[in-house]
Amino acid sequence: MSEIHLTGSHDDGNVELNTSSNPTFGSIIEQRQSRRGILGGMASVAALFGLAGCDDSNGGGVGGTTATVQAGTTGATTSGKAVTLSGTASGASSVQWIQESGPAVVLTNANSNTATFIAPSVATATNLVFSFSASGGNGVATSATTTVSVGPAALGFTAIPKNLLDVVTVPAGYSVSVLYRLGDPINTATPAYANNGTDTGFATRAGDHHDGLYFFGLGATSGLRDDSSSARGLLAMNHENITPAYLHPNGPTTVAGARPEAEAIKEIECHGVSVIEVLRGTTGWSYVQNSTFNRRITPLTPMALNGPARGDAQMRTVFSPTGVAGRGTLNNCANGYTPWGTYLTCEENWAGYFRRSSTDNAARTAKEIANFNRYGIAQGASGANAWASVTPATAGSTVFAKWNTSALGGDATQDFRNEANQFGWVVEVDPYDVNAVPRKRTALARMGHEGAWPANFVAGRRPVFYMGDDSRGEYFYKFVSATPWVAADAQAADRMAIGDKYLDNGTLYVARYDANGTGVWLPLVFGQGFVTSAYAAYSFSSQADVLINARHAADAAGGTKMDRPEWAAVNPVNGEVYLTLTNNSGRTPSTTDAANPRAYTDPKGAANQNGNPNGHIIRLRETGNTPEAVSFTWDVYAFGAGSDLNATNINLSGLDATNDFSSPDGLWFGRPQNASGLVNPLLWIQTDDGAFTDQTNNQMLLAQPGIVGDGGARTISNTVGAATGTQATFVGKAPGLTLRRFLVGPKECEITGIDSTPDGRTIFVNIQHPGETGSATTPTSAWPASQTGGTGSRPRSATIVITKDDGGVVGL
Ligand code: FEO
Ligand code: CA
Ligand code: CA
Repeated sequence: MSEIHLTGSHDDGNVELNTSSNPTFGSIIEQRQSRRGILGGMASVAALFGLAGCDDSNGGGVGGTTATVQAGTTGATTSGKAVTLSGTASGASSVQWIQESGPAVVLTNANSNTATFIAPSVATATNLVFSFSASGGNGVATSATTTVSVGPAALGFTAIPKNLLDVVTVPAGYSVSVLYRLGDPINTATPAYANNGTDTGFATRAGDHHDGLYFFGLGATSGLRDDSSSARGLLAMNHENITPAYLHPNGPTTVAGARPEAEAIKEIECHGVSVIEVLRGTTGWSYVQNSTFNRRITPLTPMALNGPARGDAQMRTVFSPTGVAGRGTLNNCANGYTPWGTYLTCEENWAGYFRRSSTDNAARTAKEIANFNRYGIAQGASGANAWASVTPATAGSTVFAKWNTSALGGDATQDFRNEANQFGWVVEVDPYDVNAVPRKRTALARMGHEGAWPANFVAGRRPVFYMGDDSRGEYFYKFVSATPWVAADAQAADRMAIGDKYLDNGTLYVARYDANGTGVWLPLVFGQGFVTSAYAAYSFSSQADVLINARHAADAAGGTKMDRPEWAAVNPVNGEVYLTLTNNSGRTPSTTDAANPRAYTDPKGAANQNGNPNGHIIRLRETGNTPEAVSFTWDVYAFGAGSDLNATNINLSGLDATNDFSSPDGLWFGRPQNASGLVNPLLWIQTDDGAFTDQTNNQMLLAQPGIVGDGGARTISNTVGAATGTQATFVGKAPGLTLRRFLVGPKECEITGIDSTPDGRTIFVNIQHPGETGSATTPTSAWPASQTGGTGSRPRSATIVITKDDGGVVGL
């Protein structure tokens, strides 16, 4: 006799196969569990009563010395869900669960009545058979079997509503904890964070504005690199920017036209990168304050310059007269990683930090001025935070002078006129070696980098990195390494040397999206096409010159000007490349194109937001499904919009209250080491929005997207005021229930940065700049203190941990 308790279903993700305590009462109980409570109960028992069981006792003994067991009948679940096998045994001296057939799973507590496992990834419904056996007092083994049918992965939660609360909200069955906050000390010598503006020493504290992140595994006991570990690891993450109001007792100050040195140092050190050790303990995840792996990289950390621009005349400064080194990384936004165990941190809005004198053009060449203009460092720029205004206490220190990129000395080796050329790069960091000097990989070009997302790590093929340049009307790029991949390099001891091998030589391309739904990757190679000395807007002189001035090169080649390319993500199963185009207030009905097809008005209160205020997510499939291809096909996966907007011309993806969003930014596919990144991978979408914030704080959604071409051609009518136009484009199949809101953040935050442990059962997400418009005396958020009921605290950017309460893969 036996019975099954199916606890859970599509919307909770927990299956339990449970044997009754009453061996004479065969029945099947189905329960549906949600945050609202357990539904079903006796009604379900009654409905399913009478289904046949399949257990047996094959020991055949009689009397009190032979065990009797029950295992259960067939149950159904889907990939990634936690499953509980519950057997009962009487008269047993020991019990054991063993898997007899189906894709292998890891059984936890296999020597107890109740064993658990995570349903494996499958493409079609697949049976797994388990045997529950007991040894009786007479030594005779008795066993019974049960079957679990596993179906393909599916979203396993109910969408949460939009909201304006000052907490992180997630679906029923999930939990949030706060892991690593602005100011948290990363060694034992640094005091706890007072969070009142008096704290110092940020080179040994968490920085501000947490952004892109990646989890690097550590063996639970070895403490060495272990790419399969889900219990211990290193989190590498970016600290993009600062909210100065909360860093000082009463906000930032200026005295006699100069910033106080102590304030400026604090602000500088709050930028950069953290590497911290994190550990899963019995009560959840925490960071290890005294770990020897912990490290801060700041805008003052020594860096090497690598690749074609190393040593170029445009890279020389008084700090490095040969142009091979520099100090610092800045405005680190999105990120990337490599299979050899390094982190890629990407420099985005660095241009705004530099001072440039009001007469600097007179001392500059036409090319230098064209460079400054194309990257946005105007003559007379004061520089964010006015760091260059500081008079240092230490005579001769250039810690602050380097933020003045004016021509002040006799030549480039006597000043920092070229300092701005040292920023805008992809920077490789070895998270496993606190002493490794980060290397700026100049072959990946200088721009407002969002991230560098890897693809094509197949033996003998050339690795590829996809990269967005986030400004209105900028481009989407890819770098194709010159060096075919050798699988053994993934575990090489000298990781930075492997970086040299694959990241210092290759071909840079910019994307052109054509009106017929195809596209071309245009090479940015000195001497090819219009990328020559004859190009009118910028006379190129070398490949280093092309890379330092990549925006000019992309103009020359004829890339498509996009609605602010943010993150990209590569589908780990089919290789399709998704790209968020966050918004573009400058798009008009007369300047749309097929890939950036909308220009409209989105009302927000009394204000009209014009252009493409809600953004969209475009995707491409490389020709022949090879990332090395030079052509592709594309469509728009989803258009951001409030569900209240016009369904014919604006809300083109048919979003409703469960999934409407605006300004997509962060983008990430589940890792292929678990069910969230296999068969039909999960796509996480994070927003950084100001257009929809009357209806909701920023949010994170989860999708199972289709494929390029699953929708069709469409022509839309654009209207902004009196201006009108029509635009043909290609729209993917409306996502419907395959796109759902998973998380809403606290007040005035941005959701950005996401990764999981390899098993997918823990995800890490960054909450950036909560309460960003408040002041020291009037904070507009109390998060993360508010997450546990706290009030009156200054807000702090922080990393959160999300887990599923039943231990299943997050999202499934
Ligand atoms: Fe730092 Fe474009 O987001
Ligand atoms: Ca609106
Ligand atoms: Ca971003």
